[in-house]
Amino acid sequence: MTQPTRIGIVGCGSVMQRPYMRLIQPMRAVGTVDVTIACDVREEVREVVQDRLGIGRFTTDYEEVIDSEEVDVVMVLTSMREHGPITRAALAAGKHVLVEKPMAVTLEEAAEIVEMARHSSGLLVCAPHVVLSNTYQTMWRHIHRGDVGKVLMARARYGHSGPDWRPWFYLEGGGALFDLGVYNITCLTGWLGPAKRVMAMTGVAIPERVVGGEMMRVEAEDNAHVLIDWGDSVFAVVTTGFTMQKYRSPALEVYGSEGTIQMMGDDWNPTGYELWRNDVGAWQIHEGTDRDWQWTDGLRHLVDCIRNDKTPVVTPEHAFHVLEIMLKAQESGGDGQSKTIESSFTPPSFEEEQEEVAPHKVHDWTQR
Ligand SMILES: NC(=O)c1ccc[n+]([C@@H]2O[C@H](COP(=O)([O-])OP(=O)(O)OC[C@H]3O[C@@H](n4cnc5c(N)ncnc54)[C@H](O)[C@@H]3O)[C@@H](O)[C@H]2O)c1
Repeated sequence: MTQPTRIGIVGCGSVMQRPYMRLIQPMRAVGTVDVTIACDVREEVREVVQDRLGIGRFTTDYEEVIDSEEVDVVMVLTSMREHGPITRAALAAGKHVLVEKPMAVTLEEAAEIVEMARHSSGLLVCAPHVVLSNTYQTMWRHIHRGDVGKVLMARARYGHSGPDWRPWFYLEGGGALFDLGVYNITCLTGWLGPAKRVMAMTGVAIPERVVGGEMMRVEAEDNAHVLIDWGDSVFAVVTTGFTMQKYRSPALEVYGSEGTIQMMGDDWNPTGYELWRNDVGAWQIHEGTDRDWQWTDGLRHLVDCIRNDKTPVVTPEHAFHVLEIMLKAQESGGDGQSKTIESSFTPPSFEEEQEEVAPHKVHDWTQR
């Protein structure tokens, strides 16, 4: 395929205007992709989209993007409740789709999407794309080669003080699990495979917040501890919330019978990993193992798969499993009972060695 892959974008807010366009513009410059149309229900972003981002067509109706003959890939970058309906419509029209997390806010809707993706002519890539980072994949190899022995437990953490630009993050269909915990749960299930049971404490720790300059009441959980069970007494805890100002702890820690491996930074932006092996008797520190990786990389991956006829390693089945864990964690937070996880998936395998890369950059989450 020598023509650019044509992208239509639905949702032109914070992540579209900065992180995704930062990935797209260099790909556009070399003719790998073109952005033929963008859509947002807010008419006021038309000028930014057309003048600053250089996208010729703008619409307030997402059907126009989905129906366009000039679109190969639909990117769904709206607020969360809209993801499901737009993704379904795009798959039904035979488009390739990249959808931000979560793929949908109910399991019924997500199940329909997974089923549609199996039969659609388009590929579906669901964020987060954390399994694509070199650090994640290198850690996968250490874990699967038995460098830390049999995995017995894990801890994961991601949080910050909370988005301040849009109220939907704090309303039903939003929340810290869908926004933040999702990264941790994707990594843990990617490494350890499908989970069997979940139990959680979830709640609203800060009931009122100033968002977009106005005071609002918080409905969705902003504070959560989630316990995940893989069977055979293998457990992990995920600590997440819009309740953390700063931290200096590892993002993920995996404890095995013969050692420990931990990811530094955040799992969407790893800064390296640290490995303890009993047989070595020392910590091995690997810094900057993701020099060029960006958390938006799922788009580059999707375009690569389309252009080179490959199957994406980021699968809808994995995203569905993660969604089931999050929804059941919310249920468990409500009634205090543990919940059985019914779905399963085949985690991506990364047997092939990749070259480790040199130290690089430090981000903070506000720069996404
Ligand atoms: N903000 C982050 O740091 C971040 C990071 C990673 C992923 N994400 C994900 O990216 C998505 C967008 O986040 P954001 O921070 O850019 O939110 P945002 O609110 O800034 O942007 C979403 C945009 O979608 C538009 N929109 C809503 N419904 C629409 C519809 N039916 N048709 C067309 N446009 C519609 C809104 O008007 C808004 O401009 C979310 O799913 C979020 O989980 C966000």
